[in-house]
Amino acid sequence: MPATSLDQIVSLCKRRGFVFPGSDIYGGLANSWDYGPLGVELKNNIRDWWWERFVQKRMDMVGIDAAILMNPKVWEASGHVENFSDAMVDCTSCKKRFRADHLIEEANPDLSVDGKPLDELNTILEALNLACPHCGKRKSFTDARTFNLMFRTSLGVTEEGKQREVYFRGEIAQAMFVNFKNILDTMRKRIPFGIASVGKAFRNEISPGNFIFRTLEFDLMEFEYFIQEDQWEEYFEYWLSEQQKWLSEIGFNAKNLRIREHTADELSHYSKKTVDIEYNTPFGWKELFGLAYRTDFDLKNHMEQSGQDLQYTDPDSGEKYIPHVIEPTFGLSRLTLMVLLEAYTEEELPNGESRTVMKFDKRLAPIDIAILPLSKKEHLIAKAKEVHQLLLDQTNLVTDFDVTGSIGKRYRRQDEIGTPLCITVDFGTLGEEDEQGALDTVTIRDRDTLEQKRVPIANLREEIAKHWKKLRNTHY
Ligand code: GAP
Repeated sequence: MPATSLDQIVSLCKRRGFVFPGSDIYGGLANSWDYGPLGVELKNNIRDWWWERFVQKRMDMVGIDAAILMNPKVWEASGHVENFSDAMVDCTSCKKRFRADHLIEEANPDLSVDGKPLDELNTILEALNLACPHCGKRKSFTDARTFNLMFRTSLGVTEEGKQREVYFRGEIAQAMFVNFKNILDTMRKRIPFGIASVGKAFRNEISPGNFIFRTLEFDLMEFEYFIQEDQWEEYFEYWLSEQQKWLSEIGFNAKNLRIREHTADELSHYSKKTVDIEYNTPFGWKELFGLAYRTDFDLKNHMEQSGQDLQYTDPDSGEKYIPHVIEPTFGLSRLTLMVLLEAYTEEELPNGESRTVMKFDKRLAPIDIAILPLSKKEHLIAKAKEVHQLLLDQTNLVTDFDVTGSIGKRYRRQDEIGTPLCITVDFGTLGEEDEQGALDTVTIRDRDTLEQKRVPIANLREEIAKHWKKLRNTHY
């Protein structure tokens, strides 16, 4: 059985060290979350797979790692200062603030109001006569106003005591446009090619929520793919299919995914066509990834504002033009949540007991292998530590060493964090009990099949490689 409520995931994440509430000992800070020891491994594994798949293994892609703070002129040129906003209303009774579109869509899910002008939103809100979701009062909302999502901060202090206002980046894309000329000048790339980046983006969201689904700061992975204008439909289809393929490779079931095209009203200020890949969460179908045709909007505006020539010169024909852009964007924090939801399984075991198991793809699991000495006897622990050290020396697998509780409890714990293999070191390993297997053998238990196999320690590395070689051959 999959997760039926987000609370199951939130509770497992806190209990097992995936994600904690931010600033926890001070009572938290609304909608801020910290990735714990297992969460950071999971998120990094997703990121590394993405980077390898879309950057390192492609000859038409290069990566950058850019600064979060940029010259404010970037955000004027990109249109974010003027257009990156949501419409919001305040409740005059309880003073809570809400996104106007969320209030309307919650009252009437068939009504899409994205991109509608303020006066239309106000007319709809008035007609719906909604009660405030917080205090329940009717007729208490102010008129809708726009609210810019860019976070501001101040930089340095001049002699006159003035500070310069800058923005935390609202999207990571702009650094790739701003570096377009640097890449052309240094990397010998020919169109079509892409520039990729991974990093934090910041948005002063009016109504964040649903755990790590919508937060004020979040990790993004995306690339800008530069093409000739007449190729845009071909590459739009190509990248949509690549995004879907990767979701299947990392373990998503196609039945939990769907494509939704943005209506003209919904389109971002820079986009001519956008589709979302949505995931079927316990709180409804929600955007997981986006794909946009950004035309030449960004490069053209940066060229005008910076005065720099950002045209591409075709090396064969000598033709100069501003490239167009297809932008596949992958929200990393959001994908981490969807990976947790997709992996969560409650099932009955053949012996009638039930277990919760995170069926992560092996390459994504935060811990690869757990070493479990059968008991706390000193000489058994010493032998288990030897086996552990062998794995540390011979592989780059991420390991856990667990001696706390009964062996059954420890298996359950490893299932709940999605560890693909457990290695049990028992008295047979020490040659003390014949029925457990011969001297210097251990038991390998598979998370999904529950199969247990007795293996000589000398063959351990080879045996483990069978489980990983297709997926993570960098280990060997
Ligand atoms: N450069 C294009 C861009 O940033 P976007 O649709 O605004 O596009 C990209 O955001 C992705 O970032 C979304 O598809 C979603 O996965 C994720 N995302 C957006 N806002 C988010 C938030 N407040 N918290 C977590 N993830 C978010």
